[in-house]
Amino acid sequence: MESRRRLIFVCEGSDCKKEDSKGLRKSLEKELSSGEFKGQCKLIRTKCMDFCKSAPVVIIGDHVSKKTNLKKVIEQLKKS
Ligand code: FES
Repeated sequence: MESRRRLIFVCEGSDCKKEDSKGLRKSLEKELSSGEFKGQCKLIRTKCMDFCKSAPVVIIGDHVSKKTNLKKVIEQLKKS
């Protein structure tokens, strides 16, 4: 079985920070450190990704999750 590590980019630019992207990243770290996604994902903090009006922004693979939250990111991970 092929194992692949999924990359998750969490924007920590100023607009996303205002929308608590840091809190979202911490919740994601916690969520991904156990359960079905354990060891399968790599969280990467980024600078502004130019989607500021849709903050907070998280990119999961090739999907841009705008005005996102923990639930949306987990749902997208399950789909991908
Ligand atoms: S600050 Fe996050 S996209 Fe610009």
